[in-house]
Amino acid sequence: MKLLLRFLVGAALAATVAAEAAPTDTPPGYALASAHPLATQAGAEILDAGGNAFDAAVAVSAALSVVEPQASALGGGGFFLLHRQSDGVQVMVDGREVAPLAATEGMFLDKKGVPDPKKSRVGPLAAAIPGGPAAWIHIASKYGTRPLAQLLAPAVRYAREGFPADRRYVRDLTMVTDRLSPAAAAVFMPGGKVPAEGTLIRQPELAVVLEQIGTQRRAGFYEGAAAEKLVAAVRAAGGIWSIEDLSRYRIIERKPLTFFFRDHRLVSAPPPSAGGVILAQTLGMLEARNWPPAEPVEAKHVLVEAWRRAYRDRRELGDPEYVFAPLYRLLSPEYLRPLARDIDPARATPSVPATASREGQHTTHFSILDAQGNRAAVTVTLNEYFGSGFMPAGSGVLLNNEMDDFTAAPGALNAYGLEGAKANAIVPGKRPLSSMAPTFVEGPRGLLILGTPGGSRIPSMVLLGTLAFVQGGDAAQVVGLRRYHHQHVPDRIEHEPGALSEGERAALAARGHALREVADGYGNMQAVWWDRIGDHVEAASDPRGVGSGLARRLRPELPTPDQVGK
Ligand code: DON
Repeated sequence: MKLLLRFLVGAALAATVAAEAAPTDTPPGYALASAHPLATQAGAEILDAGGNAFDAAVAVSAALSVVEPQASALGGGGFFLLHRQSDGVQVMVDGREVAPLAATEGMFLDKKGVPDPKKSRVGPLAAAIPGGPAAWIHIASKYGTRPLAQLLAPAVRYAREGFPADRRYVRDLTMVTDRLSPAAAAVFMPGGKVPAEGTLIRQPELAVVLEQIGTQRRAGFYEGAAAEKLVAAVRAAGGIWSIEDLSRYRIIERKPLTFFFRDHRLVSAPPPSAGGVILAQTLGMLEARNWPPAEPVEAKHVLVEAWRRAYRDRRELGDPEYVFAPLYRLLSPEYLRPLARDIDPARATPSVPATASREGQHTTHFSILDAQGNRAAVTVTLNEYFGSGFMPAGSGVLLNNEMDDFTAAPGALNAYGLEGAKANAIVPGKRPLSSMAPTFVEGPRGLLILGTPGGSRIPSMVLLGTLAFVQGGDAAQVVGLRRYHHQHVPDRIEHEPGALSEGERAALAARGHALREVADGYGNMQAVWWDRIGDHVEAASDPRGVGSGLARRLRPELPTPDQVGK
């Protein structure tokens, strides 16, 4: 059959954006969903004041840096996928962290040449140079309509006045108390212990940094006294950051990865994320097989086998400024068709032997659609819960442990059990390979904006959400569905309770799959749906988290046929 996957490859060139034909229609209102109600509120505050989706994206991201400190963009980074409705421009602002200039390929190996995960995951060496603040500054000035200080104001307020610890904060903090540096512990564990739910967490030093960024922009973080203070504190604790690292940091505007699945057009993250590539490859294989087959368990088996093959190819990817990204090959029908054909409907194809992967994960995603039709899908991260746990003394800024997303040594597994390869080796100034996949899906039923945290499981979750939408689901169904996953190594299907029936588990095991039920639900998906047929907008926040979705209609409902002419 004819493989319908078509694609446009995101050339990794600065300031390259894709101008699509400008659609003229607009949604009947705005909708947004984020992992925290106070962040959703911050975005709504900006939209209600006349700001656009890009203004709101900065406000929500900054607010999350305060109220969801586990996943801050301020000391971390991530990908801001944007669509401007007036001219159809689509761009991914890549605010991914970069390796410090003093980083070396073997910096996380012990004397015997064995990777030491403590070094790459805890403390100042684990921290790459943050890109979040640079992304905010860039988006506000190029795409926004409001002064940066106004966009950061809700975050400043939350930092100064405090936010109540919620159940996720308490749960996540409990897992990392032993990795917090003294400054971080003083902020996040008032009185030296994990706070009870409802305890106010105040971050006065963070409020100052946010204000500095709002008024001084780059000089508030990357240059001058602000940079000197950060670098001195990082180095005093044994880190390797330099003033030059901060002054050199730049976001990169990338052309998003665009591909098609049946009558749907998907726009997602290009390298240095593998997220969009895994989505495109998997959907390409499904399309080549005319998925789904009639039997539901076979549909799941084929999907798992497609994931297995797509995740295997992840090791060919890295920062496209440093290694050639073979996207034309990986996404071409000539490559994907035989891969798809190779899937045996009756048997699992064995991967390399299994190794345990960790479940600890943390990141945040939010989705925004404004009433003009502008969109933002944003996934940002510190990598693991509370990142490296390291807060440079006196700074209020919790730093990421994104260095662990690099390959410590060929074949070594990172925190998510992902196999490392040369393409993702540590090089000064290089961006670590990511799995984050902020995504737009457009089809006959309208537009879906989605994404989620979850490390290596991000692409499989976004894929399940996309398929649910393609098959008729609404925003709540997209974020709520039970999830299952396969990432080539470890060679097993990991699934949430309830994702697979007993009969399906037995049928998959009979095909040769190992199965493992994960104790808790995983992911924290945030989705917005612009239903073009029903002329309404809706937002949904993952029931596994504490976030909130908000949709506000600003245009009167269209008259129903029986009202017309009365
Ligand atoms: O960029 C990545 O792929 C990882 N640093 C993302 C980590 C993550 O999603 C943790 N989430 N819960």
